[in-house]
Amino acid sequence: MSLSHKFCCILLGCLLSLSIHAKAPDQASMLANACAACHGPDGSSQGPATPSIAEISYDYFIDTMMAFKNDERPSTVMSRIAKGYTEKEITLMAVYFARKKMKRIAQEFDPVLAKAGKAIHEENCEKCHANQGRLSEDDSGLLAGQKMPYLRYSLEEFINEEREVSRKMLKKLRLVNSQYGKQGLEQLIHYYGSLKD
Ligand code: HEC
Ligand code: HEC
Repeated sequence: MSLSHKFCCILLGCLLSLSIHAKAPDQASMLANACAACHGPDGSSQGPATPSIAEISYDYFIDTMMAFKNDERPSTVMSRIAKGYTEKEITLMAVYFARKKMKRIAQEFDPVLAKAGKAIHEENCEKCHANQGRLSEDDSGLLAGQKMPYLRYSLEEFINEEREVSRKMLKKLRLVNSQYGKQGLEQLIHYYGSLKD
């Protein structure tokens, strides 16, 4: 075999293996496919109530999935689902979803409530949920554009101490609750629901 022939064979081999590699869907996107029925394509929820999970931080994703898996966070379906995945698979999905951009779909909100909610957020929540609740690096979940029914029952779970959260956040939530009552929480929900990209 001439040298150039040999080189061609090697090159062809490389190209072949490259194309096989490119065609095989990676494990993370295959795992994430199982979530799309409820959480939407690439984790941006299209339905009315299921939360978006695109863009949430790597650490928050892992902590949350492990909490579901160990029955430490209340859930309707996620506890059962999370039990079906190993820690390694959860880590792969954490990388996958953290890289996706959250697409915020318009929700129906009351502009008067949203305006009042903005002020409450800035005073009590912005410190940890920075950039109007859009910043995912602070490991506190995404609030801007998150589904309003999901936010509603999440806040209730925190206040009733069914879902664990830092004492500092609980203190702020209780403060809002005692100052403005349920209406204050509703204003926050309408504010987050009003936020688009
Ligand atoms: C049958 C619908 C359904 C499927 C399928 C599903 N989820 Fe969920 N997910 C939910 C619901 C509903 C919630 C809210 C908690 C609950 O009630 O279980 C949720 C909540 C979550 C949360 C918490 C979001 C937050 O902001 O704290 C994460 C993370 C999550 N799901 C990840 C996943 C992953 C990863 C998959 C795929 C392996 C998946 N889910 C599949 C319905 C679903
Ligand atoms: C001291 C920091 C801090 C403050 C202040 C704070 N939060 Fe949080 N918040 C967190 C952390 C941390 C989490 C993540 C909890 C977890 O790991 O499940 C969180 C989670 C949440 C979630 C759930 C997100 C999800 O995807 O499920 C909501 C909703 C929320 N906060 C609303 C608020 C509101 C409204 C305020 C203001 C009244 C507020 N927070 C103030 C730290 C804070």
